[in-house]
Amino acid sequence: MNTISLMMPLDMHLHLRDDDMLKVVAPLTSYTFSGALVMPNLVPPVTTKEMVKSYRHRIIEAMESDDFEPYMTLFYQHYSREFLESVQDDITAIKIYPSGATTNSEGGVVSFDIEPMRETLEAMSDLGIILSVHGETNGFVMDREAEFMSVYEMLASNFPKLKIIMEHITTREAVEMLDRYENLYATVTVHHLMITLDDVAGGMLRPHLFCKPIAKRPHDREALLKIALAAHPKVMFGSDSAPHPKDKKESCGCGAGVFTAPIALQLLCEIFEEYNALDNLQAFVSDNAQRIYGICPDYKEVVLIKHDFVVPQMYGEVVPMRAGETLRWSIERVD
Ligand code: NCD
Ligand code: ZN
Repeated sequence: MNTISLMMPLDMHLHLRDDDMLKVVAPLTSYTFSGALVMPNLVPPVTTKEMVKSYRHRIIEAMESDDFEPYMTLFYQHYSREFLESVQDDITAIKIYPSGATTNSEGGVVSFDIEPMRETLEAMSDLGIILSVHGETNGFVMDREAEFMSVYEMLASNFPKLKIIMEHITTREAVEMLDRYENLYATVTVHHLMITLDDVAGGMLRPHLFCKPIAKRPHDREALLKIALAAHPKVMFGSDSAPHPKDKKESCGCGAGVFTAPIALQLLCEIFEEYNALDNLQAFVSDNAQRIYGICPDYKEVVLIKHDFVVPQMYGEVVPMRAGETLRWSIERVD
């Protein structure tokens, strides 16, 4: 197979930032994707209807295309039912962060005790607003996601009608959790299908591969590959592409985030081809998300061709994953 056509690709976990950075990165995603779930961890975080609407407007202005839908999210805090009713048409999901777990998450929750969250989560469940979760404890870095599994169990069992997305899963434990509760789903990034902690820190430190959750062990990567390559019906592609300026990555105190937006589809083709699973790529990059989120993106067909693509060293101030390296697939055209 020398070309592959993908219909309406969706990136169900994306950081677009704001201002000049937004202007650089938004067109890179809107070129090849039909839509993306846009994360709310701006400074300050997106917490009001006005902030959602004006951020959406700035994204659309920055996009340079009219066939891309930004699916908006709010940053979780206590929200009343009345507020959620008033904002439900403007958002697709609410993203919850444990306080301090990752970039710009200081305003996140300090505890996952159910009772203080009940009103908000019950209202979300009734209104069909999806809960998107950054699932890490503040434990030892390699164990944070596995330790968070009990929180997923508690949320899933207390709110059986609430759709809960385990974002950017990185462990075998999270993969095993998927089928235990009907209302649990997951996103998987492309970088976690490719790298383990060895690639980040096993040799020279590779700051552009440093992200949260940190890449884990080979057996974890194998578990992720298994569900992604099979396009497990509860799993969707979410790049977690998270741009930081070069000087914030190549510095003492490197920010967490891997920038993959402009190469995500090319890398996915490489991986799915390597494992003879290209037939499942469409479901992984779009069909599953359409079904899980109940969304219907506008028509877009992306044709990739088996033709070398040299990844640019920089996009604006941002160094992408695989900068300067040659990928086997490139974007041939977008209709
Ligand atoms: C993300 C960012 O930079 O906003 N960083 C990351 O390492 N993935 C936040 C997040 O999703 O954890
Ligand atoms: Zn993220």
